[in-house]
Amino acid sequence: MTDEELLARADAIAARAYAPYSNFNVGCAVLTRDGVVIEGVNVENAAYPLGVCAERTTFSRAIVQGYLPGDFTVAAITASPCGGCRQWLAEMRVERVVFRNGGRLVHMTVDELLPEQFDAGELA
Ligand code: THU
Repeated sequence: MTDEELLARADAIAARAYAPYSNFNVGCAVLTRDGVVIEGVNVENAAYPLGVCAERTTFSRAIVQGYLPGDFTVAAITASPCGGCRQWLAEMRVERVVFRNGGRLVHMTVDELLPEQFDAGELA
């Protein structure tokens, strides 16, 4: 599957976003090493800070399905990932990230998205 095909999956699933407050639908599709695509959307809440980004619902689903950090090759997102989601992408050790930003298609590694990461090594 190409990055563009994975992004098309993210575009399609974005229609299922629950975003009645921002009206900003986000879709995410992640490709696992065994070739499975896992999708997620943002899910908002009337108590605004409780809303969850599309990346986090996607990786939460993946964990529930039995995947672990390091099991993911590419994450495709319909918008530029927020700072907190960059930390999630780092935790999940995704190899590459593709996303739209201001009409451009951006390809980056997690190290590029989030340099000098805080990670489990700091907790040892
Ligand atoms: N959003 C995401 O789902 N992912 C991001 O990385 C950026 C922001 C969502 C959160 C909120 O539901 C909406 O976009 C507007 O901020």
